[in-house]
Amino acid sequence: MQEKRSSMHGLWSSSWAFVLAATAAAVGLGNIWKFPYITGQNGGGAFVVVYIICTLLMGIPLMIAEIMIGRTGRQNPANSVATLAEEDGVSRRWGLVGGLTVISGPLILSYYSVIAGWAMAYVFKSGSGIFTHLTGPQAKQLFDDFVSNPYKLAFWHTMLILGSSLVITRGIEKGIEKAVNIMFPALVALLLILVGYGIKSSHFSETLVYLFEPDFTKLTPHVILVAMGQAFFSLSIATGTIMMYGAYLPRNASIVSAAVSISMADMGIALLSGLAIFPVVFANNLEPSAGPGLIFQTLPLAFGKMPMGNLFAVIFFVMLVFAAFTSAISLLEPATAWCIERRGLTRNQATLLVSFLVWLLGFGTIFSFNSFSNVKLFGLNFFEGLDYLTANLMLPIGGFFIAIFTVWRLSKHTTLQGLQMADSGLYHCWRFTLRYISPILILLVFLKFIGVF
Ligand code: TRP
Repeated sequence: MQEKRSSMHGLWSSSWAFVLAATAAAVGLGNIWKFPYITGQNGGGAFVVVYIICTLLMGIPLMIAEIMIGRTGRQNPANSVATLAEEDGVSRRWGLVGGLTVISGPLILSYYSVIAGWAMAYVFKSGSGIFTHLTGPQAKQLFDDFVSNPYKLAFWHTMLILGSSLVITRGIEKGIEKAVNIMFPALVALLLILVGYGIKSSHFSETLVYLFEPDFTKLTPHVILVAMGQAFFSLSIATGTIMMYGAYLPRNASIVSAAVSISMADMGIALLSGLAIFPVVFANNLEPSAGPGLIFQTLPLAFGKMPMGNLFAVIFFVMLVFAAFTSAISLLEPATAWCIERRGLTRNQATLLVSFLVWLLGFGTIFSFNSFSNVKLFGLNFFEGLDYLTANLMLPIGGFFIAIFTVWRLSKHTTLQGLQMADSGLYHCWRFTLRYISPILILLVFLKFIGVF
């Protein structure tokens, strides 16, 4: 029965196409914007070590599980989980885990789109040439002036939502895939140029120490929770996005090697961004803990000093917008598909409804940087609170239940079949990690965080 099931939407042309599409969804603002700034806020090295451990011990095993569930179920995340559960004689209610994506995607997108809007605005700022010979304080001023204007933020946020909903209604996936084929290698190349610039600067060794020499006294339960949340956020796991992509994966493709490639590419790009950004931070006496504005204050400085810097800056921000765009789509699609399948809306109606709600919610984030920056709940403003709720709470909780479902509820036979693997050492290693290590680590981090021990 499982062999015969096929997706109603067709399959990826090859496993390479899948790896590329999933990598495009995974690589986004999380790698280039978020990773450097939360590394800066959480003290560097020790945070990075926990992030890497979480990617290896939780991220990769969970990604394998998600692709496997998607490929076996061949439907939207909620239905795939429910179908597998039913076939194994487990409650269909587990489908709720897959359904988490319907809520978390739009919540994340509401602030993701505001930040992607900043990147769009910076394309035009770089084009105007204002980065040339910018000083550190000027770069900070430029950014502060920009975010203190809610009208500008609202304009770019609206542009981004309009753009991604247009793509979703039209479903021009081919165009996007083609663009990604060019944009993605180009993004990596430009990041490498920036890293090269950093290596030549006198602050590279300082950066290496900052990023890779862990000072474990800086590890608090909060730092560990944020590092775990970042690993999940950056890989796009625990919400079902990857499950959805897995549903279109051909049967003969190796899930393990796909998951490893995607995760390594994702982690590699995050670390490269760190290596590109921190030398500029140290060279210009900027604060590593500057927060969400970090890359918007540092990159203009680096570009401003480079030959043909303005041109490179334009290319870089265009690609950042693209990277964000491919992720934004993957955040919008599950809720849209849910409205179509469960509520009987047409694709256009569903997209309109979900994007409108996301757009509206985005104003909470817009005002967090100006009018309402001081309105706080538990010490967090709206943007910080929403980021905390989604990345640090919803994603790890989703990951916990996906792990429990896959290795404690599904039969060994089903997972072996789903992965198309022999009962080998590699399989046992995956199952053991997902059975004992990943969920227990997630639980421990939570218990420690709420102060149980
Ligand atoms: N991973 C993306 C990034 O790093 C963001 C993203 C896209 C995401 N889809 C997701 C995060 C699903 C969590 C869940 O920018």
